[in-house]
Amino acid sequence: HRPLRVALLGCGVVGGEVVRLLHEQAEDLTARIGAPIEIAGIAVRRPQRDRGGLPVPAAIFTTDPLGLVKRDDVDIVIEVVGGIEPARTWLVEALRSGKSVVTANKALLAEDGATLHAAAAEGGADLYYEAAVAGAIPLLRPLRESLHGDRITRVTGIVNGTTNFILSKMCTTGAGFSEALDEATALGYAEADPTADVEGFDAAAKAAILASLAFHTRVTAADVYREGITEVTAADVASAAAMGCVVKLLCIADRTADGGVTARVHPAMIPTSHPLASVGDAFNAVFVEAEAAGQLMFYGRGAGGAPTASAVLGDVVAVARNRISGTVSRGESSYADLRVQPMGEV
Ligand code: HSE
Repeated sequence: HRPLRVALLGCGVVGGEVVRLLHEQAEDLTARIGAPIEIAGIAVRRPQRDRGGLPVPAAIFTTDPLGLVKRDDVDIVIEVVGGIEPARTWLVEALRSGKSVVTANKALLAEDGATLHAAAAEGGADLYYEAAVAGAIPLLRPLRESLHGDRITRVTGIVNGTTNFILSKMCTTGAGFSEALDEATALGYAEADPTADVEGFDAAAKAAILASLAFHTRVTAADVYREGITEVTAADVASAAAMGCVVKLLCIADRTADGGVTARVHPAMIPTSHPLASVGDAFNAVFVEAEAAGQLMFYGRGAGGAPTASAVLGDVVAVARNRISGTVSRGESSYADLRVQPMGEV
């Protein structure tokens, strides 16, 4: 088969790892896919920036992402820029013209996944986004494929590594919130502006994506009740401990008795005997309950360049194979008309 050509949009921590892995694993990937993967171009804002000796020629960088996406020799578009616009414009253009898309963009999927799925259907194109939730942990594929014969009843997850690091620190050392946040920042877990993490926005976007896949319905970030961890005190953690519990920022999506779906993100006390209680440090874990499968737990690294790039590469292999066999994975399973219930106050 002729080489498959990839356009990479964004070359930060994750994008750089994607380039490195494509280079290092080139032989294995070619064998697994049945065709070599070539990088057609990399769109960045600052082409001159020092990227630590990536194995690509300088001429491969461009500052024109839309132009790159539109090129006839591009088969697959990988987006690791994030944010709603202009990423949505690039990906809609790619999908409508039949290019496969692999994206890690949780904010876009959670706010307007419907537009991307519609563009994918229009162009007969693949849309894969394993890296958008819980980084390296294979989670979305199991939800959208392996568990498709089953009926999922509830998804409970620790999907934000930064807040899990902070709360774990508070639970194990008795530290207060700001002390634990400072340590998370010093270790490079928390961003310079940690708002999206500590206020629960990042987890809420992931909750929307998980709820949509688990319940075959459309849940957006705005449908998710959200409460962050900034109000959690050392005293809260101590009283939870006295009751045999730890405090975790959980995302919970479940079916309601009257046929609706709710999704919420808030700090919660969980008994130390629960599998999620022992998820420490900046790890992620998602606990899935399904009628036939019973209880399942997915655990691993939810952030970081290499783990996230691992998920991106897995999707690249999947969409590349589909291109060669001339198939397209159904992005959306027949959407059930489930009502999303606003949570209000909990
Ligand atoms: N800020 C996120 C986290 C990164 O801490 O989990 C991964 O989405």
